[in-house]
Amino acid sequence: GLTCLDIMRALPLFLCLFLARKKGVGASDPSMPFMVYLDRDHLVCLKWSFNNLQDNIVFKLVVNTTGWVGFGMSPNGGMKGSDIVVGGLGPSGSYFTDRYATGNSMPLMDEQQSYTLLSLTESDGQTIMKFKRSLQACDDKDFHITDRPIKLIYAYGTTDEIMYHQTRRGTMEVNLLNFMPRSSLPNRNYISATMNNITIPNLHTYYHCKVMKFPKLNTKHHIYQVEPVIENHGIVHHMILYSCPSYVTEAYDEKCFKGNTGDACFGVIAAWAIGGGVFELPENAGIPVGGEEKDLYYRLEIHYNNLNLEEGMTDSSGLRLHYTNQLRQHDVGILTTGVMPFKHVQYNIPPKAPEFHTYGMCNTSLFSQVYSSLLAYPVPDLQLFAVLLHTHLAGRKVRVGHYRNGQQIDFLSLNENYNFELQQIVNSGTIKTIKQGDEISVECTYNTLDRTGMGLATTDEMCLAFLFYYPAIKITSCISHPNIALTNSGQQQDPMYEFRLYYIAYIQEVNEYQNLLNRALHFQMIIDENVSNY
Ligand SMILES: *[C@@H]1O[C@H](CO)[C@@H](O)[C@H](O)[C@H]1NC(C)=O
Ligand SMILES: *[C@@H]1O[C@H](CO)[C@@H](O)[C@H](O)[C@H]1NC(C)=O
Ligand SMILES: *[C@@H]1O[C@H](CO)[C@@H](O)[C@H](O)[C@H]1NC(C)=O
Ligand SMILES: *[C@@H]1O[C@H](CO)[C@@H](O)[C@H](O)[C@H]1NC(C)=O
Repeated sequence: GLTCLDIMRALPLFLCLFLARKKGVGASDPSMPFMVYLDRDHLVCLKWSFNNLQDNIVFKLVVNTTGWVGFGMSPNGGMKGSDIVVGGLGPSGSYFTDRYATGNSMPLMDEQQSYTLLSLTESDGQTIMKFKRSLQACDDKDFHITDRPIKLIYAYGTTDEIMYHQTRRGTMEVNLLNFMPRSSLPNRNYISATMNNITIPNLHTYYHCKVMKFPKLNTKHHIYQVEPVIENHGIVHHMILYSCPSYVTEAYDEKCFKGNTGDACFGVIAAWAIGGGVFELPENAGIPVGGEEKDLYYRLEIHYNNLNLEEGMTDSSGLRLHYTNQLRQHDVGILTTGVMPFKHVQYNIPPKAPEFHTYGMCNTSLFSQVYSSLLAYPVPDLQLFAVLLHTHLAGRKVRVGHYRNGQQIDFLSLNENYNFELQQIVNSGTIKTIKQGDEISVECTYNTLDRTGMGLATTDEMCLAFLFYYPAIKITSCISHPNIALTNSGQQQDPMYEFRLYYIAYIQEVNEYQNLLNRALHFQMIIDENVSNY
């Protein structure tokens, strides 16, 4: 964990003292990123973390009592049919059992004990019970934990004699695997980053860009929530808000990528895609905004997907960035990883392929090389808490692999049933630590059976993962491209050009083209906040 000493190296002393004092239930525990109070009086606190790949969920129940505590999942908020654990620390030591309730009576013991007790302690008049379970139900008395809201129930006693709880009980509906805390901040200031009544052309695909100056905030603030404002549902496909390097000083409002200086605004600060909702940042972190000496510009890019070629539609969609001056512990950064999405390095995805793969790499050992020339301190470990995967129509799977010392150690994100219509920022469940030297791969699987054309450019398809992490570093993108064709304009010099056309033209050769791409060395690009490329 982060020690006070670690923090002192980077931050003023007062914050350290503040952290030392903030030790009770509310103290943030990075290993348990999610927390709710199950009751109005804040006597029953539930924290949790989960790991989809390892199929487990860890709960930490903290209740202001020295008696027994009970927690469960219920079909309707009542006891009947619910999956319950009861535990406590009594005169003869700790007790903990997996039970189920058949009615409003003492829950019965489960034949199969599916929960594992990790620790059970009492301190300062609180009982702290940490336990885990698989997400899948182990028996028919257990609930299957999915990414839908589930009714949680609790009860507790004042002694260790388990008996009727009277009014010390309650229920709350929580989406454990897709948790968005409800902000209770009174200050509802927001920056509006929206289009201004633009006319959407009658084209299938249209990208509109608006480069704008944000209202001046004299000191640093933190964005804690990103709320989409959608005027034309189904047509607004995705929105990305980028910060601009300091040399961008002119606003514009037109079709993207026409050679404006604002095309260089490439540091993602917020994103939304079809199927997504409001995004809330973890309670210990926020996206920094304001406090700059000069005005900074931001670019809002909206992809409109006008499949019915409707004429004359106007749009003012965009994002609302809710911010606060109550600064959080960490600045959030968003790192773009995957296949380089620039027109001049595109290559083709062949048609009629059931499963075609592209991938991009990020070798983080290059960060320190970029950094050493800039900054005195080493690149910190990046604590990843959420990921947004992004492809276009042909994307079917996206896997973000995490490698250390040449071995894969985890997936930072994995979606084997990727759905273009349901792209959202997904909480990682646990904090995943990216250490300097780790490598990250973003692999996309496309299905192009419905395509007949000569091929589809990778820039039309995209294969990106936006990694949300803290503390922020000054690098915005770490992307790569197989080194088979670096420029379209230089096609004559590209020895693979004939080769590529040949392979794409003959569907039976798709596998060889795939192998060629898989074996190609990659050209790695790292982009910093000033859009200097390395
Ligand atoms: C619960 O107990 C903790 C630790 O003793 C205490 O700090 C907190 O104020 C208590 N909460 C309430 C609502 O009484
Ligand atoms: C938006 O633009 C359309 C056409 O350009 C115009 O008819 C309409 O009045 C505008 N709406 C607003 C709210 O300005
Ligand atoms: C990552 O970069 C480091 C430093 O340049 C290099 O030694 C290492 O081989 C690279 N890893 C891969 C897989 O290319
Ligand atoms: C970007 O430019 C600003 C202003 O010139 C400078 O202070 C900052 O260090 C630069 N960042 C990087 C990563 O070079």
